[in-house]
Amino acid sequence: MIKAAGLRTHYCAEVTAQLVGEKASLCGWVNSVRDHGEHLSFVDIRDHTGTVQIVTERNPELRTESAIRAVGVVARRPEGTDNPHIASGEVELREASIELLGPAAVTPFTIGGHTEVEESTRLRYRYLDLRRERMQSNLRTRAKVNQAIRTAMERQGFCEVETPLLWTPTPEGAREFLVPSRLQPGNFYVLPQSPQIAKQLLMVGGFDRYYQIARCLRDEDLRADRQFEFTQLDMEASFVTQHDVRAFITEVIVEVVRATRGAELEGIGQITWFEAMDRYGVDKPDLRFGSPLVDLTELLGQGDIRAFAAPCVKGIKAPTSEPLSRSRLDALVERAKSLGAKGLAWFRVVEGDGGATLESPLAKFLDEQRTAAFIEALGLQVGDLALAVADGWETAVKVLGQIRLDLGRPGLDHSELHFLWVVDFPLFEGLDEDGNPVSAHHPFTMPNEEDFGLLDTDPLRVRSQSYDLVLNGWELGSGSIRIHRGDIQAKIFEVIGIDPDEAASRFGFLLDAFRYGAPPHGGFAFGIDRLAAMMSGEENIREVIAFPKTQSGLDPLTNAPKPVAQGVLDLVGLTVKARR
Ligand code: AMO
Repeated sequence: MIKAAGLRTHYCAEVTAQLVGEKASLCGWVNSVRDHGEHLSFVDIRDHTGTVQIVTERNPELRTESAIRAVGVVARRPEGTDNPHIASGEVELREASIELLGPAAVTPFTIGGHTEVEESTRLRYRYLDLRRERMQSNLRTRAKVNQAIRTAMERQGFCEVETPLLWTPTPEGAREFLVPSRLQPGNFYVLPQSPQIAKQLLMVGGFDRYYQIARCLRDEDLRADRQFEFTQLDMEASFVTQHDVRAFITEVIVEVVRATRGAELEGIGQITWFEAMDRYGVDKPDLRFGSPLVDLTELLGQGDIRAFAAPCVKGIKAPTSEPLSRSRLDALVERAKSLGAKGLAWFRVVEGDGGATLESPLAKFLDEQRTAAFIEALGLQVGDLALAVADGWETAVKVLGQIRLDLGRPGLDHSELHFLWVVDFPLFEGLDEDGNPVSAHHPFTMPNEEDFGLLDTDPLRVRSQSYDLVLNGWELGSGSIRIHRGDIQAKIFEVIGIDPDEAASRFGFLLDAFRYGAPPHGGFAFGIDRLAAMMSGEENIREVIAFPKTQSGLDPLTNAPKPVAQGVLDLVGLTVKARR
């Protein structure tokens, strides 16, 4: 640790037996005060590294959480009074004088220790919450993540460029925040959902390896892994393949894991989007546990068992070690129905006369041979539970995939890290209400060249050159090789229903740029909030953001958003129709 200058000579964790006899000046907050008789007090001072016990003259003014400076001599604690739980536990600061730098009122909750405090109170007094160990540790972990990102990007020859926050709409799927213009009343900037178009223009501009720790803004519903404002590592490179882009990002992730966990990550595995859906029912599989989906169509879907007469039958060995009661099984069946399946079949594996056999309302339809084949296909043992869904492929995998997560995820922690590349996403995901294909990633993604011909005939079958990075079941980031030719970009706009005039007025500047020697390029962006949360063992990204918004988009600290005076609105040419 760097020796601090200013008012302090040491941080608390540096005050150890090696300093005995030396004078030290510590700065921080009063963690606790214990008076000893009329004249003497034991004061624990706290900074972000730990606490130190100070023996000093009693001062009735000294309240917990006051900001203080303590100057004294480091001494061994009297025998038998060591505290093995803290770095400074063998010593104390004696003959100390305490300077009260910032007196504290009574705080609304205890800062030291690990008392549970309601989130609304934590956010209302976020500056006090930030003083607590959890937030100190989380934000410092996040800082290490940023530092590691910069180290790895610079090492790979990337150049940091900042792009505008006052920007223009981009078709990336999220609703955008508008900023009214004072100088051009009636006109609006939008806050960028990502630097996507700007970074593509940087490629035309010759910055062939760009990165940015970029603030992005999206006006979407907030969840555990979503805030209005968030931060991406955003990068783009020219003259590269998608393998190169994944290699650049893998290098960054390796550096982040090294910096935050002190561990060496041995590369990142890869599966195709189809395989992810087929085996896990989601495009962001959580591989901290097994139970992949197994295809049982050939075994069960032959039409002779009515419950399984469907184009696709998928089964799993339920990822649960506890035996589920009949009512839990009924609840699972209801859950499957609410997810869109016609039903859910369950099978308990029990000891039969001739070895393991199945117990289930449907067991009577399976002869001995098919029972054995079923047990073998799912790798079942006595005591296991198996589940199966028969439906169209998409419904079967999605429903069973969700049930796999419902059963397998609770209780898992993030100490184990399972990164995974998911590649070969489809270019489009379904149709919008006008019957136009909707870009699965964004409309700047290059179609797989072999599938160009399908753009007009069967767009939903077109594969793309895009890829996601997944960590423990969270989508950490996504990227693609981009379209760098105006004609292909214009074609994609046409397919998704943006007509040429609209394309020219909204993105003319981009199509124009592609006319001047646009290099082939591709890139990626991952959410730093999500990565920092995982690295801090947190389930909600609010825990790694200094001043987050609540679920309903409010900031209990500043009370934003707030109404503004009509005079201010007049300046930007706005009238509010109705105030709530
Ligand atoms: P995408 O929209 O997939 O791609 O975003 C990339 C990553 O950003 C994070 N993220 C969020 N984090 C917190 N709150 C949000 N509201 C939020 N929205 C997104 C996620 C996500 O995986 N321009 C493309 C990237 C590219 O193609 O290069 C883009 O933004 O971790």
